[in-house]
Amino acid sequence: MGTVTILVLHGPNLNLLGLREPGIYGSVTLDEINRLLEQEGQTLDCKVFTLQSNHEGVLVDAIQNAFGQHQGILMNAGAYTHTSVAIRDAIAAVNLPTVEVHLSNIYRREAFRHHSYIAPVAIGQISGFGAESYRLGLHALVHHLRQKSGGE
Ligand code: DQA
Repeated sequence: MGTVTILVLHGPNLNLLGLREPGIYGSVTLDEINRLLEQEGQTLDCKVFTLQSNHEGVLVDAIQNAFGQHQGILMNAGAYTHTSVAIRDAIAAVNLPTVEVHLSNIYRREAFRHHSYIAPVAIGQISGFGAESYRLGLHALVHHLRQKSGGE
């Protein structure tokens, strides 16, 4: 398989990481997470593209545009995880392997965070490890893609 490219999508309020509820989300900023993923991508021999939006439609557009451009999606949909049928349907429509990540452990928090619309269309979910959730998610996604392509 040629160079693997991965689209990393961050949903609403994740632009405020570092300032936002640091007791829950930690002090790491989104820029730091993106840099970590770009570096990790190099060690995994894949290219990482990142996008954050507070707008559901922008995220839907990005998922649609990923078709034919990227081999997989790593996504923290933020609060849209718990509300967005549109994001779930976009992932199902493009049928790109998607790993769902969360900084916090959504199952230890309020009941409304326990349900994810993304989980049934994702290949897996990583939740609760802070910025490390993204790194683990990237590894899991690349591993999945390489296994699927028969180790080329
Ligand atoms: C989050 C968890 C969501 O419930 C919340 O709305 C977020 C962040 C996380 O990364 O832990 O915005 O996705």
